[in-house]
Amino acid sequence: MIKKLTRHVRADSMRGLILGLAALVVTSSFAQAGDSTAGRKVMEQCQMCHGKDGLGKMSYTPNIAGQKYDYLVHALMAYKAGERKSQMMSLVVKKLNDEDIANVAAYYAAIKITVEVPQ
Ligand code: HEC
Repeated sequence: MIKKLTRHVRADSMRGLILGLAALVVTSSFAQAGDSTAGRKVMEQCQMCHGKDGLGKMSYTPNIAGQKYDYLVHALMAYKAGERKSQMMSLVVKKLNDEDIANVAAYYAAIKITVEVPQ
């Protein structure tokens, strides 16, 4: 009984390990942070709305300057997968591959920002 249980647990943890590794492989293409210099070129498709400086140019376009790399990648992938919907962003991300996304995320993440908390 115990032997059977141990075998079960082992099979389960192996499965967990394999799934964990698979997830790691999927995300690791982004873990090796994008190239902000290459991202500068991709940024040309974004600057009309988010600016070269990452500050939203219209009242309805968000600031993305200095945003976390992981957050930017996640947001862009979500638009691409249709999990997050925006007419504008869906059109934009359609033209980007994974490398473009990593690079443009690295570009905007690399912008240095300072903040001032209201008194
Ligand atoms: C035509 C205008 C337009 C262009 C061009 C555009 N965006 Fe956007 N972007 C928007 C709008 C509007 C939103 C807000 C959408 C929403 O409500 O989810 C947005 C949202 C985002 C967000 C999510 C921000 C957050 O705080 O969650 C990211 C990241 C982003 N854009 C990155 C980019 C990048 C990178 C490019 C260029 C490859 C780009 N955008 C091009 C209009 C634009």
